[in-house]
Amino acid sequence: MCGTLRASGAGKKAVLMGWVNRRRDLGSIIFIDLRDRTGVAQVVFNRERNAAVHDRAATLRNEYVIAAIGTLKLRDADTINKNIPTGEVELVADEIRILNESKLPPFLPSDTALSNEETRLKYRYIDLRRDVMQFNIETRHKVAKAIRDYLSSLGFFEIETPFMTRSTPEGARDYLVPSRVQPGTFYALPQSPQLFKQILMISGFDKYFQIVRCFRDEDLRADRQPEFTQIDLEISYPQPERVWEVVEGFLHAAFKAAGFEIKTPFPRMDYDEAIRLYGIDKPDLRLPAFTDVRDCFTAQNLEELAINANLPVIAIRTPKVGELSRKERDDIKPMFHSKGGAKIFEDFKRIGNKYPDAAAAIAKKTGMEEGDLIVLVAGSAQAGPQTAMPAHRKVTPAELAICASAGLLRLALAQKYAERHKCFQRGDFRFLWVTNFPMFEWDESEKQWMAAHHPFTSPHEEDMGLLEAGVESVNDPQSPLSAVRALAYDVVLNGTELGSGSIRIHRQDIQRKIFRALGMTEEEAKSRFGFFLEALEYGTPPHGGIALGLDRIVMILAGAESLREVIPFPKTARAVDLMVDAPTPVPERQLKELGIQIKK
Ligand code: AMO
Repeated sequence: MCGTLRASGAGKKAVLMGWVNRRRDLGSIIFIDLRDRTGVAQVVFNRERNAAVHDRAATLRNEYVIAAIGTLKLRDADTINKNIPTGEVELVADEIRILNESKLPPFLPSDTALSNEETRLKYRYIDLRRDVMQFNIETRHKVAKAIRDYLSSLGFFEIETPFMTRSTPEGARDYLVPSRVQPGTFYALPQSPQLFKQILMISGFDKYFQIVRCFRDEDLRADRQPEFTQIDLEISYPQPERVWEVVEGFLHAAFKAAGFEIKTPFPRMDYDEAIRLYGIDKPDLRLPAFTDVRDCFTAQNLEELAINANLPVIAIRTPKVGELSRKERDDIKPMFHSKGGAKIFEDFKRIGNKYPDAAAAIAKKTGMEEGDLIVLVAGSAQAGPQTAMPAHRKVTPAELAICASAGLLRLALAQKYAERHKCFQRGDFRFLWVTNFPMFEWDESEKQWMAAHHPFTSPHEEDMGLLEAGVESVNDPQSPLSAVRALAYDVVLNGTELGSGSIRIHRQDIQRKIFRALGMTEEEAKSRFGFFLEALEYGTPPHGGIALGLDRIVMILAGAESLREVIPFPKTARAVDLMVDAPTPVPERQLKELGIQIKK
């Protein structure tokens, strides 16, 4: 292979096959950079050596596919190319075969400047020839293989589950597949194998995993694709810690396969704590946590600033951004979006002028250093009183609003100044387990409670009483349901949610209650999940598991900005495959067979 040639092979005969990456014609000598999956090698055609072969080499163009046959020679000392691993040698060609010609592509794999993404996706086969893309896809393979090997070594079975199935609720819309044999009925593509993997536990396969495609019709972002791949697993009789240990083990193996050593076990943090310290349930630990600097101000200070003394005053410290220009300072305020009465004090200097004691105390408490930016977020004095919460909840809804506003601002500031403060170093992987999520979230538009994870997640043993009481007031945003914690956990890496899982409900009576809490009638629950409720009655072992996004893991490992960089054939933000041009309308005849009529 081209990329494997080394000085030790000098004198040997070789046949290289690949694409013409570049041709340099010096008259009597022609140099070809020949490229295959492993790299680039230099092939030399010398007129003196063989005029006919040299003349044929003169007709080569970029991306022609050729075979070159010749002898491997050491290069002269002054022509050694130290920038490539094959730079000490070259193939002196005696023969050449043009295996196929190529039209001039819209861009070349060797181009350093990237074409626009639409062109890249339309001509994906050219784009994939680029070495970055080859590296990303190779990393993807290595990561998946390491995970398969690791889980297999622990006794997990990889078991396939159907793609043509019925809806599995994971919070997105389903992709539907119409049935021809039973007109008017539809399969749903799985949003995840959730119910099948739970049924596999009921079926006696106590350690299951699958590297599996999932389908979700949802708003797309850089870290979301309509079809994506999960590393999905489920275990019988686990404590959450057992699931975490398995995940830490396979992530260690996967990162190692990609050339990185990571530390396990990962730190753990309560959901409430994550909100209080970072304002988000997927904290990026590369940046400093919030500091509550309420006690740096006197009561009179707070009153003058119209700050609510019952709520935290959050100092966001963004390290090492240096001196900001006037314009940069003005840009901060519009980055802030207040949720529920939070307000911003972006000009720390001005606070310092008026309240020097407070400013000095804040600088000390936050560990502020030269060049750090401090922005304060506080509750306005008008914000209502705090709502009573059970003792185990550490954030009240009013605090949550302040923290959430500050959390988004913290990330926006970090992003804006990422280049300057150098907090984002490649290879710096900060993992975190976030645990004890709330079980339910109030949906204001639907006026009902939704499952924060999914409806098969087990509530905390200690919170069963709250669930019991809560199902009596399912249309009330103040219902005790708000305080029920789930045995759910997320694994987070550098501010990205890599995976999500939980201990499941294995008792039918509790599963029924959860459906009721989610506003489902007995009939609805039966029609949607009857098969599952029934299965739960036949000796279901306690079980739990998790699913991680393979694409997201590879994206972070590859240092890529978007999932599209690590998926061979991805879709655009409008869920279009530009290469094959899908989705498309279908012929009338096909629709008729399916009993489908399109309304314009
Ligand atoms: P969840 O819905 O949180 O959980 O998904 C698990 C992980 O899958 C990845 N992911 C995605 N990746 C790319 N594009 C998407 N559209 C997308 N959606 C999700 C994320 C996410 O953390 N059945 C449960 C898991 C369980 O409880 O075991 C589930 O699917 O990395």
